[in-house]
Amino acid sequence: MKAILLFLAIEFSVHFQIFKSSNFQIIKLTNMNAQDDFLPINGTDYIEFYVGNAKQAAHYYQTAFGFQPLAYAGLETGLKDRTSYVIRQDKITFVLTTSLVPDSPIADHCKLHGDGVKVVALWVDDARKSFEETTKRGAKAFLTPKVEKDTMGEIVMSGIHTYGETVHVFIERKNYGGVFMPGFVKWDPLYRPPVTGLRYVDHMVGNVGWGEMNTWAQFYHDVMGFNQLISFDDNDISTEFTALMSKVMASNNLYIKFPLNEPAHGKKKSQIEEYLDFYQSGGVQHVAMATNNILETVAMLKSRGVEFLRVPDAYYDALIQRIGKIDESIDPLRELGILVDRDEDGYLLQIFTKPVEDRPTVFYEIIQRKGARSFGKGNFKALFESIELEQERRGTL
Ligand code: FE2
Repeated sequence: MKAILLFLAIEFSVHFQIFKSSNFQIIKLTNMNAQDDFLPINGTDYIEFYVGNAKQAAHYYQTAFGFQPLAYAGLETGLKDRTSYVIRQDKITFVLTTSLVPDSPIADHCKLHGDGVKVVALWVDDARKSFEETTKRGAKAFLTPKVEKDTMGEIVMSGIHTYGETVHVFIERKNYGGVFMPGFVKWDPLYRPPVTGLRYVDHMVGNVGWGEMNTWAQFYHDVMGFNQLISFDDNDISTEFTALMSKVMASNNLYIKFPLNEPAHGKKKSQIEEYLDFYQSGGVQHVAMATNNILETVAMLKSRGVEFLRVPDAYYDALIQRIGKIDESIDPLRELGILVDRDEDGYLLQIFTKPVEDRPTVFYEIIQRKGARSFGKGNFKALFESIELEQERRGTL
């Protein structure tokens, strides 16, 4: 009920319905069925980062995260101003792009934001229609539809702007059989550290400026036909400590989930505020990557140099009491620092890396879902309660 009132309060004026599946609710602002979906999305196509040194970034993601080399474009393929490395692990594709010249949109992006996500590419069946439908609903054009061809077929791509300097590119690849995209050649180096069990993008979180969360939630609704997901954890949308507000927008088929955060005033400087200070605008905060075995994945990532945030040990003393029985034993979770949260559909295991660049901006979440369809907000509370418990023990509360 609270969520509904919140919704009314922010003046979404169209009719809405709530679809309830167990405790997981989707607020549908319009009575839209799959056949009415004006922007059907098949999944995340790729995530492109603009970075200061793409060669070294690719090496890092291969070595630390187990991404496999896939494709390359640069001087050797006829480009004069940039280089891109494409790496993949199961369904997750990253493109790491750097500028070869001082004056270019890529160089400007890196100067202002540091290394960060520029493109969240979405896989569609019709990139022209995706462009038409979104721009006629108010999206700002980034890339008018264009066709890229080579001997393996053609790709149609188009794009629109979203928060900060981030863009969505629509990729239509149904008539393409090449390794990645025209303009790229297969990248097949000898160096291939093994995969770490990362499977697909579970969700991708955007940080937006003060008071902008509802604006961007409305953007995803109006322009892209997304709906808001309401799960039990929205009730602690803003506690004394969390100091952020969050709303989850999802595509009609739920393949794409974009939580949106804005900073809120709390006891400490909001982590969102810190991000905005260093990124200099809204942007992608974290990419959550799913695994089927978080214990194995996180053990591998740690041994390969990925650094994770840790909750105080007290978190694990109260864990079973808080979330009930789980399949895993507590000791390995405690050892690796993996967090657990439960909703009425099941539970999830998750862990967050430290930022993967020197500015405290982009980081990753590793997530394994065992029924739960929410995002682990229960862990924020547990995290802060655990800190308080530690402080109490030290007499510093
Ligand atoms: Fe997340």
